[in-house]
Amino acid sequence: MPTTLTINGTDQVIDAPDDTPLLWVLRDELGMTGTKFGCGVGACGACTVHIDGEAMRSCQVALGDVWGEVTTIEGLGNPAAMHAVQAAWLRHQVAQCGYCQSGQIMQAADLLARNPDPTDADIDEAMAGNLCRCGTYNRIRAAIHDAATQMREDAI
Ligand code: FES
Ligand code: FES
Repeated sequence: MPTTLTINGTDQVIDAPDDTPLLWVLRDELGMTGTKFGCGVGACGACTVHIDGEAMRSCQVALGDVWGEVTTIEGLGNPAAMHAVQAAWLRHQVAQCGYCQSGQIMQAADLLARNPDPTDADIDEAMAGNLCRCGTYNRIRAAIHDAATQMREDAI
């Protein structure tokens, strides 16, 4: 039986088995390729999306188990209204090859939604499950601090 998911604010009817990983649904059924396949076993973070605002590894969540609204990198912001994390990523030119970066951004956005002024240790802990083979970790940390500052200023 088809499943209806709300993804980036739009209801999507998906005709796939309940045990299909959400990552495959996004990429193969819906053509939303911003979310990346890295390891497929929950160990790299490349596939990170939000479910009801919480960062989750979409390779580890089955279609039939999705419990809330899904947000992907395509829905986090757009060129006219970027999320603060995306804007900071651009200012710091964080990406190298870029493959891990949508997952990094989704994880960082989750962190800043919960912690508006994270320390280096908070960032390292929150981002520890998001691997970057290009080693952009220093720029990721700097961009998260920058985005946090921007978000705090915007909230005043
Ligand atoms: S592809 Fe999902 S954690 Fe690596
Ligand atoms: S920018 Fe290349 S894997 Fe992270």
